[in-house]
Amino acid sequence: MYPKKPPMGFNTWNTFGENINDEMIRQTADAMVEKGLLAAGYEYLVIDDCWSERKRDAVTDKIVPDKNKFPKGMKAVSDYVHSKGLKFGMYSCAGVRTCADYPGSYDHEFLDAKTFAEYGADFLKYDFCYKPEHAHGPLLYRRISMALQSSGRDILLSACNWGCDDVHDWIRSTGAGMFRSTGDISDNFVSFRDIFLSQVDNLKCSGYGCFNDIDMLTVGMHNRGNVAAAGCSDLEYRTEFALWCMAGAPLMLGCDVCSIDDTTLKLVTNPYLLRINQDAACRQMFTVHSECDNLRNVYARLLSENEIAILMTNLADDDCRLWFPFDELGLPVSAGKGLHLTDAFTGADAGVVKEYHYIPLKAHDCAVYLAKVVEV
Ligand code: GAL
Repeated sequence: MYPKKPPMGFNTWNTFGENINDEMIRQTADAMVEKGLLAAGYEYLVIDDCWSERKRDAVTDKIVPDKNKFPKGMKAVSDYVHSKGLKFGMYSCAGVRTCADYPGSYDHEFLDAKTFAEYGADFLKYDFCYKPEHAHGPLLYRRISMALQSSGRDILLSACNWGCDDVHDWIRSTGAGMFRSTGDISDNFVSFRDIFLSQVDNLKCSGYGCFNDIDMLTVGMHNRGNVAAAGCSDLEYRTEFALWCMAGAPLMLGCDVCSIDDTTLKLVTNPYLLRINQDAACRQMFTVHSECDNLRNVYARLLSENEIAILMTNLADDDCRLWFPFDELGLPVSAGKGLHLTDAFTGADAGVVKEYHYIPLKAHDCAVYLAKVVEV
């Protein structure tokens, strides 16, 4: 399955880690619908690592779901998820074991793809731990892709090799619909900031059919769960979400959606930010202005319908004023044009600005606008 827009959903890893089970998946599915997340576009419910028994079935050689965590089997869970109108995602690994030491799919790719298809999976996250030294990474992703294609079900391949082996050069050719390009996120400002900055120059190979995945969001986690690491303020989470939207990255929620707070819910369903993220043109953002060693930047992204998304970031630790001269966007003063700005966080009309925009930004804050070129 080749996605046309960055995939959106929820993944168990960030909050739940190994503490996953039938009941919490069903509750998560209920919450995704009741809280309007599915309606906003979050359609995949993905079970990450730690879902299976430690050993394959001795007779069939299949991976089997953990009998205590999933006593009714995985098809029952998948049926429930589907009954809510959601899509169902599973997890495996290109190596002999998964990262948390459960059976991996190495040399079992076709059997496992068939098993996932039997479960009714629509998505497979495919990790990279415990890969035999001699095995060629790109070949292992080609193999699982072939296995999924011949499984009889349309299953989106979500590659997760953390950016190894120059993944940007070849991953699109394997048939993956998204690919992790970085190491694991943890729940603090520096983690999401550095992940974002590491991929700014790599977004050119992200788009229609295959999206650069900068990891599951920590937005709204507030230092609870599996990747807790100091946590972030609401202002910082707002910045994180804006960066992911502007990068056109897959939006996989990592917080507990059953207890998601109102501020987070409002943020992750913000129609302006989602419009930027999901824009059909899939053009990559580019840097139009840079200060303070790349920590205070202005990025722009051309959207469909002659709109431009603008992101002004202060990822440094002090408050500042940030300057954005329109000349750097391709709008010289001589053109006699200005930008009509809409604040993407609030939807408020921010007026028509000409020549430049110069705004105060608190430490770790950002501003996001939808802009149209107008006569001035
Ligand atoms: C890591 C991966 C994480 C998570 C974890 C599970 O390799 O990057 O996102 O899936 O494995 O063990």
